Amino acid sequence: MKHIKIFDTTLRDGEQAPGCSMNLKEKLEVAKALERLNVDIIEAGFAISSKGDFESVKSVAETVKNSSVASLARAIPKDIDAAYEAVKNAVSPRIHIFLATSPIHMEYKLKMSPSQVLENIEAMTKYAKKYVPDVEFSAEDAMRSDPEFLAKAVRAAIKAGATTINIPDTVGYSTPREMAERITYLRKAVPETEGIVLSVHCHNDLGMAVANSLAAVEAGALQVECTINGLGERAGNAAMEEIVMAINTRKNIYGGETRIKTNEIYRASRLVYNIIGMRAPINKAIVGDNAFAHESGIHQHGVLANRATYEIMTPESVGIPSNNMVFGKHSGRHAIQNRLKELGYNLTPEEMDVLFASFKDLADKKKKINDADLEALVGHKVKSSTANEFTLDRFTVNSGNYVTSNAIVRLSNGGKVFEEVAIGDGPVDAAFKAVDKIIKTPPHSLDDYSIQSVGEGKDALGEAFVRIKCGDEIVTGRGLSTDIIEASIIAYINGLNKLL
Ligand code: KIV
Ligand code: ZN
Repeated sequence: MKHIKIFDTTLRDGEQAPGCSMNLKEKLEVAKALERLNVDIIEAGFAISSKGDFESVKSVAETVKNSSVASLARAIPKDIDAAYEAVKNAVSPRIHIFLATSPIHMEYKLKMSPSQVLENIEAMTKYAKKYVPDVEFSAEDAMRSDPEFLAKAVRAAIKAGATTINIPDTVGYSTPREMAERITYLRKAVPETEGIVLSVHCHNDLGMAVANSLAAVEAGALQVECTINGLGERAGNAAMEEIVMAINTRKNIYGGETRIKTNEIYRASRLVYNIIGMRAPINKAIVGDNAFAHESGIHQHGVLANRATYEIMTPESVGIPSNNMVFGKHSGRHAIQNRLKELGYNLTPEEMDVLFASFKDLADKKKKINDADLEALVGHKVKSSTANEFTLDRFTVNSGNYVTSNAIVRLSNGGKVFEEVAIGDGPVDAAFKAVDKIIKTPPHSLDDYSIQSVGEGKDALGEAFVRIKCGDEIVTGRGLSTDIIEASIIAYINGLNKLL
């Protein structure tokens, strides 16, 4: 069986998407989850793009031991220098250079002639190769490039020492057949590709990123670039969980294997959704709430008789826990820690202190605490433990159909407390206006606000999400509480903290 490498770019292409930015601590959490998944390569960022990106690539490179760590770089010496500085301490560092090869990109964006592009590819690949043996070259917008010119670009990069050649469908324009034909053509036109790894990187603008990636694998690509939950700009990148489970479930078709520990998929997916403040669409393949739910009588009957009647893979194979345990206010720390371990969360003693305190608070308000509640608390812990931020101290709202809603909100930050009062159109609006009087951020608008229950029952936890737009920047926030106004305020503060 051939080994199909998984190159994860959640921390670079995924994080680049509006509203998906992560702080250093969050990026490290994701990097560790990717390492647990056993991905072959983690693209940790674009080192030259900002000081923050450089620091996070460096930290990921110094933390991760079992996966290669890559930084993206334009085909420019200063980018390659920064990429090298950021990844040089990794156990297995990779520099990933890109340059566009499509006529439209070369003429309007690069303002370079095709021969200049070829010279540049060769020179910059050689430049990167002086630093590390593992150099990847991406021909940006490859699927809208002239195939013969693309072949020349691929040959130039291999001649200069590239060990992986990536064929991106940058704008999500390709179809599966076209992708397979392009890989087949390149393998034939450039026989040197047999000595290197051919890779694909597909965007999802026409909803075909996963299908295109798999078509490339069928045609001989040995690396797939993808992101957890399909995160990424516009319609996103190819979803890692879908690619891995397709290759795993249809070995007869793809004739290969990834080294991904599939039972880590669900947990990594939840972690990423929690960090960016989103929830999986319920019908999302592999990780959505309904992905393994059988509702109709006929299906249930079949599944009870033999699961394989309607189930092509098991929930356990992607790490969805099979039994649900219930805890209450008398449950001990040990039992909670054990259950979290079974669910795949190994918390440090300090993290467990925070979690157990939140558990006790929750148990005072809610009789039965289940796995979904525990997972929500874990996600919340990751979010709420960033230093130097405003936190909710207390609030009161007064609302009804005959009164103007008003709110008093008290926040604390760095040992100081701040209190404000506001009226608004409903209790959430009043509370948010009071928060706005305290947290002085640049002008912003609330783009989206939603609240959903975690699990079932009238006393279920409410999970609130906000999306805030400030100039070109979009941030998301998430809050969790049995009180939905409190969850909303926490989510709003969480989003505003990111703008500060
Ligand atoms: O989509 C794209 O072309 C990219 C490259 C930089 C690999 O993200
Ligand atoms: Zn991309």
